[in-house]
Amino acid sequence: MGIYSAAVEEITWYTGLSPAAFFTIAALMVVVYKTVSSMFVSPEDFNKPPVAMSIEKISQSNSDFLNNVMATTTNSQPLQLGDMTEQQLRAYNGSDPNKPLLISIKGQIYDVSSSRMFYGPGGAYSMFTGKEASRALALLSFKPQDINGNLEDLGPEELQVLEDWEDKFTEKYAKVGQLVREPMPADQAGCGDETHEIEN
Ligand code: HEM
Repeated sequence: MGIYSAAVEEITWYTGLSPAAFFTIAALMVVVYKTVSSMFVSPEDFNKPPVAMSIEKISQSNSDFLNNVMATTTNSQPLQLGDMTEQQLRAYNGSDPNKPLLISIKGQIYDVSSSRMFYGPGGAYSMFTGKEASRALALLSFKPQDINGNLEDLGPEELQVLEDWEDKFTEKYAKVGQLVREPMPADQAGCGDETHEIEN
């Protein structure tokens, strides 16, 4: 007796089915299994990138990631902007998204970009951004005419309030420069009697 007829006899004996019926049912079960299992993703494949993603795309996304890391690292270096006039400081009021947000207190300029929600456009304290804000902070005032560095007529309590703000800023933000006086007309050749007053 050949192996084939022995197998057929065993199948008939075990299943009670004719060989044709048995093989038809087995084939149908394989088809159903393949169809159903193709609808699911195995846990190992779940985290793999889609097969359709080419090697070029993978290396592109890796280099994008590296560029982001580089940009973050570069941006985290403390800036040093050095001497600046009040006029120059105004460029850092948030109107240019590529520039840091700066505030001056007692002539020291702080980079407050990390608190964009306070000092960025529309922020509750954005009126101080790009300005020397000592007087306003000392007086706890939002009045435009107080947003300047004039401390002449302030009393000891107000100066203490200002010192507390200074301590807070020194602790929280990097100093990136200091304010210098606007050049006086006499300092500039050919400026005649033009004045350099700053409106607030
Ligand atoms: C109704 C009065 C006020 C309320 C309820 C208030 C509330 C707040 C709150 C909740 C913060 C966030 C604090 C933090 O998370 O560190 C804050 C920050 C600040 N406030 Fe006020 N504030 C008031 C008045 C003022 C006034 C009058 C000034 C100055 C003129 C001022 C200047 C500031 C500044 C500069 C910051 C940001 C400090 C930083 O950079 O961390 N606030 N305020």
